[in-house]
Amino acid sequence: MRTQVGIVGAGPAGLFLSLLLHRAGIESIIIESRSRRDVEETVRAGVLEHWVVELMQELGLGERMLREGHFHSGITLQWNRERHHVDIQGLTGGKGVTVYPQHEVLKDLIAARLAQGGEILFGVSGAAFRDVDTDHPSIAFSRDGAPEVIACDYVVGADGFHGPGRQAIPASLRTEYQKIYPFGWLGILTNAKLSWPELIYTNQQDGFALLSTRSPEVQRMYIQCDPADDIANWSDARIWDQLQIRLGTDDGWTLTEGPIFQKGIIPLRSFVCEPMQYGRLFLAGDSAHIVPPTGAKGLNLAVADVLVLSRAMEAQFRHNRRDLLDRYSAACLRRVWKAERFSWYMTTMLHKNLHETDFEQRIHFADLDLVRTSEASARSLAENYVGLPFD
Ligand code: PHB
Repeated sequence: MRTQVGIVGAGPAGLFLSLLLHRAGIESIIIESRSRRDVEETVRAGVLEHWVVELMQELGLGERMLREGHFHSGITLQWNRERHHVDIQGLTGGKGVTVYPQHEVLKDLIAARLAQGGEILFGVSGAAFRDVDTDHPSIAFSRDGAPEVIACDYVVGADGFHGPGRQAIPASLRTEYQKIYPFGWLGILTNAKLSWPELIYTNQQDGFALLSTRSPEVQRMYIQCDPADDIANWSDARIWDQLQIRLGTDDGWTLTEGPIFQKGIIPLRSFVCEPMQYGRLFLAGDSAHIVPPTGAKGLNLAVADVLVLSRAMEAQFRHNRRDLLDRYSAACLRRVWKAERFSWYMTTMLHKNLHETDFEQRIHFADLDLVRTSEASARSLAENYVGLPFD
């Protein structure tokens, strides 16, 4: 097999990239270790920055997102049993975010790419990048037990945190920056009616909770927990109890409960790999950087990477200009570090961290109160929340 751009990973980075490349007249093949069903059903976060919504529409993928997604013009922050509305739209000159789950985005992207005649090979194993520091890189893998190779002009590791992409950059040329948080998120999906028109991010008593939504009938909620805890320790009654405590107010508001049909615990991590390229290999999305989910930047950051990469590839293939590809990593990392900063800020401000001093805990509440009292602070949060402009 041969293609111009070989991509490992059919997540948001790989799929958006193949659609953007197709629009620019550049061929690609995606290989993916999971089945199509797995990719389309894994529950992840669900907030799209305003420019991602516009990009989906530009790519002809806006129809279902606009019908089933929900535009949010603000968010609610809560502490001391009081709520504070942040008018994201007013603070950003009209921008907002759209709540549309990642796996729904992936279904739309896969269907669109296959309809274009694009190749996505699901369920392959043993993907490995070869000769990435030469002019003829390739991707080796097995399909149904038989070895295969895709010869490429360029290769892309859109293969997540645990994929082979990052490891294909020699360790001596790579610097990794990491922070592991001493807490995780317990996430649930419940068949319940909407309890509040906005997402609520709260830091109260035992720590963080997030009230989010999927549809008028299905709600998504999270609570801070020990990342090493066993989900078996969390009965539905205990989960509702904690959600009621952490989201509780003194103004008569009630949280509508319902049957919980999905629950799980995820750890929280911040991670960046520098550089994001080596020879003819480019990393995009989680293979190069992870953010904790407070602020929902993961998918958006992956799409930002591949927008930069697709423009650089277009300059190379159409105009024989290499400079944008050479600057890919530097261009992405400027945005990545700002999203890392914002996700860390939201995470530290909104969680109870028993490893911190009481002094530090108080500072986080001062940060929250600044958003309430200072328009500059609120605007900074809002600009980051909807997605910073590309520079
Ligand atoms: C979600 O709905 O899954 C979600 C929303 C906002 C976040 C993180 C996750 O910051």
